[in-house]
Amino acid sequence: MKLKRLLGTLCIVGISSITMGQQKTVDQKVNDLLSRMTLKEKIGQMNQNSYFGLSDADIDKMPDLGLDENLRNIKVSEAQIAKMSRKDKIQYLKKQVLSGLDQSILQPIRKGEVGSLLNVVDPEMVNLIQKTAIKESRLGIPLLIARDVIHGYKTIFPIPLGQAASFNPEVVEVGAQVAAREARSVGIHWTFAPMMDISRDARWGRVAESLGEDPYLAAELGLAMVKGFQDGGNLKSNQSVAACVKHFVGYGAAEGGRDYNSTNIPPALMRNVYLAPFEKSIKGGAATLMTSFNDNDGIPASANKFLLKDVLRDEWGFKGVVVSDWASIAEMIPHGFAKDGEQAAELSANALLDIDMVSHTYHNHLEKLVDEGKVSMETIDAMVRNILRLKYDMGLFDNPYIDTKQKTPFYAPQHLEAAQKAAVESAILLKNEGVLPLNINTKIAVVGPLADAPHDQMGTWVFDGEKEHTVTPLKALQTTHKNIDYVYEAGLKYSRDTNTSQFDAVKQAVEKADVAVVFVGEEAILSGEAHSLSDINLIGKQSDLIREVKSVGKPVVVVIMAGRPLTIERDLAYSDAVLYNFHPGTMGGPAILDLLFGKENPSGKLPMTFVREVGQIPMYYNHNNTGRPAPEKVMTLADIELEAGQTSLGNTSFYLDSGRDPLFPFGFGLSYSTFEYSNLNLSAQTLTTNDILKVTVDLKNTSNYAGTEVAQLYVRDLFGSIVRPVRELKGFQRVTLQPGETKSVVFELPISELAFYGQDGTKKVESGEFKLWVGTNSNADLESSFQVK
Ligand code: BGC
Repeated sequence: MKLKRLLGTLCIVGISSITMGQQKTVDQKVNDLLSRMTLKEKIGQMNQNSYFGLSDADIDKMPDLGLDENLRNIKVSEAQIAKMSRKDKIQYLKKQVLSGLDQSILQPIRKGEVGSLLNVVDPEMVNLIQKTAIKESRLGIPLLIARDVIHGYKTIFPIPLGQAASFNPEVVEVGAQVAAREARSVGIHWTFAPMMDISRDARWGRVAESLGEDPYLAAELGLAMVKGFQDGGNLKSNQSVAACVKHFVGYGAAEGGRDYNSTNIPPALMRNVYLAPFEKSIKGGAATLMTSFNDNDGIPASANKFLLKDVLRDEWGFKGVVVSDWASIAEMIPHGFAKDGEQAAELSANALLDIDMVSHTYHNHLEKLVDEGKVSMETIDAMVRNILRLKYDMGLFDNPYIDTKQKTPFYAPQHLEAAQKAAVESAILLKNEGVLPLNINTKIAVVGPLADAPHDQMGTWVFDGEKEHTVTPLKALQTTHKNIDYVYEAGLKYSRDTNTSQFDAVKQAVEKADVAVVFVGEEAILSGEAHSLSDINLIGKQSDLIREVKSVGKPVVVVIMAGRPLTIERDLAYSDAVLYNFHPGTMGGPAILDLLFGKENPSGKLPMTFVREVGQIPMYYNHNNTGRPAPEKVMTLADIELEAGQTSLGNTSFYLDSGRDPLFPFGFGLSYSTFEYSNLNLSAQTLTTNDILKVTVDLKNTSNYAGTEVAQLYVRDLFGSIVRPVRELKGFQRVTLQPGETKSVVFELPISELAFYGQDGTKKVESGEFKLWVGTNSNADLESSFQVK
């Protein structure tokens, strides 16, 4: 980086002069410091700036839209941008990297106007900035340096939705640990993850970053991610970054799956579904929380006093930091909730939103609001305390700098190994008509745009991972898996490609092989923030490619790498096997080959329902029953007689064209092994709220392959003061079994876990009848029942 050359080596200076006496508690230190701060300095802590410390190469590579966005960020007007050529824009930005650093970044830091900084990732720049805060600002308060490290920093793990498919908290925790280690080594203290928005709409691009549709799964895995980022609760460790649970709240319920859109979540659903994972991770120690962009029932999240104050602070006792989403305070103006920046600042501050991410609304207006008595000094102090407490808890006053001489742990062998394990456990086998696993002597035809797409394989939200380090399936065949015989013909260059001129060459390649493996899916840019789609079929000519390959007559294995559950029903007909991977990250290639050739056995399960048609959305397993549930077998369009009578189809709840059921239910995933569940046993038939129900089941591997099954426990509360979902996940366990082996699997279900917010708005277990199922997915049919008195 050019900057490195400019700055030379920084001298690392301690700040023991401002460190308080050892005997003082963090709260005393915070209060001490607070008592010495001016109002301006307090507001400074509440202001977060962003600075993309771009290298010359970054700027050269940037698409036009990116250049414009960066120019806007440094306040170049739209009129000026419109007049500039690409070359002008590049030159301008490069100049800014040199001079802008001082004007836009260091100057406000010297004045104590900034408390945290987003997007600086060059360790020398981090040290320079930190040194400016410590040596040149009046109180020398260190900065928090933040970055979106979502599923890896350099070593990229599967996207969060993929990690969720592992149903393995340990895999998720290790993934976050690796990310934290790599990120902290360049000076990042704070990441904006995990995202725990319940996601029931695959059109929404951000499902990629979510942990799926189920509040229980999202809560368990979200907490594991928090632990991983925060080094098991040791925020002071130099391998830890503060986690940020986001987006509070309801953002995943965006109307129509269009990003940033309004949500309309009523109170009980908000509590029972959308807030549940947040409550778990906040109580489990998440250091920070981010508000969301959406308005729910007309109230933007960044000013929702009820949720931010009454629920989060008063009810859950959260003492951590609340940060807005990117400019979400100022965005309350276009929402139509605040008439100007001043009112926006007043609303958010009084809702106890501590940090304004980049909109400068607090910076511009809070002082006046305090002078006028519209925001009290007590409110400001409470918020600044949260921020200072985090800085003390992270040890930043004692240990603010990065040792730039120490070797970074990027792509350490154990990190790559963990990423590969995560990719293996995240892959979901959706169909297998006797093709997989492939025999090691099988010659494969490698086809499709995702067979060698190192950038796209990493998925969305990758700022720092490098495609040069991605091992694609093709690269693995050339390096780690050289013993496999293959021919390669991509057929399409990228997922949206519509040029079919290479299809004949593909067919010739397939002729030469025993089996065709077709790698299709989505480019990374088609999912993630602001990347919603209204058509979620395989894009471009990929379905045609699968059909052409099938026409050759060889077995066809379809391997999908995508950022969302796609609608693939029409492709199943032309596929003998389907292995689904949510973008699997750096080590996806070797992981997939190990799975195809049986060195590994698939064990992933769907964290989201796969619909048949986009028009079925929202369709999720834990829905309420209607008064007219459809029977298992419903009429199809073809069954309907001409001039059929009004009631001849029965009056039940289903679609005439796509039926009642999804393509694959939540929790679904095959294995090369086959498993059998039997002997479901409950420790008691009648329980009280203080009891723990012990559920035991025998799980047998009835195949010749060793394999891992995710055993799942579902419950239904049959009658409630509000309608309860038809099933709710209440437990899952990964169980590894040798061929023929049987294990007794035990779930312990505290009856208190059956509590929900009912009609009177309080959370309690309602007595009555419950049904329970254990099995291989959310349609499990081994059932029992019990009563709560
Ligand atoms: C996203 C957040 C992210 C933030 C900072 C926003 O646009 O919604 O999830 O953490 O930007 O980059």
